[in-house]
Amino acid sequence: MTTGTGRASGKLILVGEHAVVHGEPALAFAVDRGTTVHLASVDGPTTVDLPSVDPRLQAAVEHVVGPTGWRVSLSSDLPVGRGMGSSASLAVALVRAHDDATGAHTDAYARALEVERLFHGTPSGVDVAVAVAGGVLRFQRTDPPTRQSLPAPSWQAVVLDSGSAGDTGALVAAVGARRPGIDPQLRRIGELVEAAQQALDDPQALGPLLDENQALLEAIGVSTPRLEALVGLARRHGALGAKLSGAGGGGVVLALVDDPAPLLAAAASEGVDAWVVRPAPGAPA
Ligand code: MEV
Repeated sequence: MTTGTGRASGKLILVGEHAVVHGEPALAFAVDRGTTVHLASVDGPTTVDLPSVDPRLQAAVEHVVGPTGWRVSLSSDLPVGRGMGSSASLAVALVRAHDDATGAHTDAYARALEVERLFHGTPSGVDVAVAVAGGVLRFQRTDPPTRQSLPAPSWQAVVLDSGSAGDTGALVAAVGARRPGIDPQLRRIGELVEAAQQALDDPQALGPLLDENQALLEAIGVSTPRLEALVGLARRHGALGAKLSGAGGGGVVLALVDDPAPLLAAAASEGVDAWVVRPAPGAPA
């Protein structure tokens, strides 16, 4: 029997979601949660070891490993649909597991991006780029895409889970349909990314940039009252800046903090799932 294993991280976007789909840069970082895939060769159709398999997941698996020949086991500690890159992490882990099983060295970014398109229609590629590279990344959808690894800053942040999922494909399509009316907002988000890259090691300067990014995400129509309530909770409990992270419509809020304790306590008392994240240097892919 031939076997293979692959793992890839999830991500959080610091600044620049949605605008990145339309050519602006974005800053994102890998988190210490992700997806692990194990493959074992079998005679017969490719199957996924789960009680029920979403047709898109089956299509993604078959796109990478083929319709026959593999038993696929998945495990993930990423919340699905929360803006943390669960589908890109799955796609890259699948490609790595297949490469491991077959001894091939394929282009994980290109192959996983094809899988992301099955899930989300027209992704920018930022989620896949972070899943491949790890660490902190500046990404821009140029041709070919620009992927610049950055030194990890030393701040920490709190993630607040809204408890509901957003539909990335639908949100990306809705933002696209609002152009060109929202183009000034998208361009301003790009400027915030440039400023955030300069201020990456200075949380006091970075915080207000996150706040302005949140206001622009509200203006382009991807925030929700629940996300805004969590942003407000974060700001009342010491956040230097806070914004939704990912596609919005649900998902998570990212709050930059000096001391996570007051916000974690406030979140716990309101029954909000919250945890600390720290950007870490990228592991060699
Ligand atoms: C999703 O994590 C980020 C979006 O900008 C979509 C994308 O870049 O593919 C909303």
